[in-house]
Amino acid sequence: MKHLAIIPGDGIGKDVTDVGMEMIDVISEMSAFDYDAELFGIGSERYLRTGELITEEEFDDLGKKDAIYFGAIGDPRVRPGVLEQGILLNMRARFDQYINLRPVTSWHPFVPLKKHFDFDICFLRENTEDFYMGAGGVMKNGRNANVNIKRKLYDLSVDIVPSSSSGDEFAFELGLLSKKGVERFAEYAFMTADKRNEKKVTLVDKANVCTSIYGMQREIFSKKAEEYGMGLEYMYVDAMAMAMIVRPDTFGTVAVPNLFGDILTDLGAQLQGGLGMGASGNINPGGVSMFEPIHGSAPDIAGQNKANPIAAVLAAKMMLDHLGYEDMGTLLQNAVRKCLDGGKYTKDLGGGLGTKEMGAEIKNALRGMK
Ligand code: NAD
Ligand code: IPM
Ligand code: MN
Repeated sequence: MKHLAIIPGDGIGKDVTDVGMEMIDVISEMSAFDYDAELFGIGSERYLRTGELITEEEFDDLGKKDAIYFGAIGDPRVRPGVLEQGILLNMRARFDQYINLRPVTSWHPFVPLKKHFDFDICFLRENTEDFYMGAGGVMKNGRNANVNIKRKLYDLSVDIVPSSSSGDEFAFELGLLSKKGVERFAEYAFMTADKRNEKKVTLVDKANVCTSIYGMQREIFSKKAEEYGMGLEYMYVDAMAMAMIVRPDTFGTVAVPNLFGDILTDLGAQLQGGLGMGASGNINPGGVSMFEPIHGSAPDIAGQNKANPIAAVLAAKMMLDHLGYEDMGTLLQNAVRKCLDGGKYTKDLGGGLGTKEMGAEIKNALRGMK
């Protein structure tokens, strides 16, 4: 019996996780997969009502689950960052989900490229460090700013010395990588490439500008490549953005630091047909992992039965894989494929279905696969 936590969150988060959970339900009817689910009312509504983001009690409860299924977070009524940092990034950090696994697969005919490419890229986005540590501040009137990093592997205070005494104000945000953080990231990347029977890992960075952090990262990855007897290909992130469009079929396992990974995987989602197709897993190999679509709360279409639920369904597939039910995960992915092949999809892909109708179609396809 697997214990799942469900956090629909905000906006279309609820629309799409409802559909994803229906699929999990059907899977449990069809197979040996057995589960219970606890619903968590974490999100903007509660925050606006009570000021609570995630309580310690909720962290304790979530920490006892086998997996977390998450929708999306974000609300135009709340200042940017409050919910994103206080809920989503907080969970990724607290549960030390240091790998954000984001597959980019050629879901034909929705690949918006002129030339036909078949690709199956496994993006591994580092998920706890880089510019996501919350290490920033605003310096006013020439006074030193004190940065205290709370969400990470260690605490650190940094004094920023003003370059002039003019009293200029400035804001800053630090990107930090720890040796330990890069080590485990590199290990996971080569292990993944090895499992996928690939000969190389592609490491994306900006080592020509941010020389300290990405220089160290290159050293560690290159040692790991030797250890594994595998190839290591370096790509600057700007060139990578271009290469994803002109030769996506040449990439397998791609390791990318947190911020660049955020950006490149939205591009990756678009290569699959749009944000409604991109799924992800926030992985802690020895702890609690969390599965979610990569899109946000999409306030423009929330609650209107317009959201494409496939990203959330594919996130449920990744959760099944992670829990050891790969056969059921594959079945669910095949059910999605069958719907797409049959011309059944939502408006963002050029089809005519609403969220619920799409869910019903996938469910039918799934049942028909037994
Ligand atoms: P978004 O992903 O919510 O939406 C971008 C565009 O894509 C919108 O036009 C939206 O309608 C469309 N879209 C997204 N998902 C779709 C789907 N499943 N089907 C059809 N169309 C879809 O990004 P945004 O507008 O930049 O952000 C909105 C809020 O979500 C912000 O508060 C942001 O911080 C937050 N956000 C949260 C997450 C997350 O929870 N993981 C991810 C990204 C953004
Ligand atoms: C994502 C989102 C988050 C991120 C935001 C909402 C904090 O964009 O999951 O890709 O930047 O990681
Ligand atoms: Mn993102």
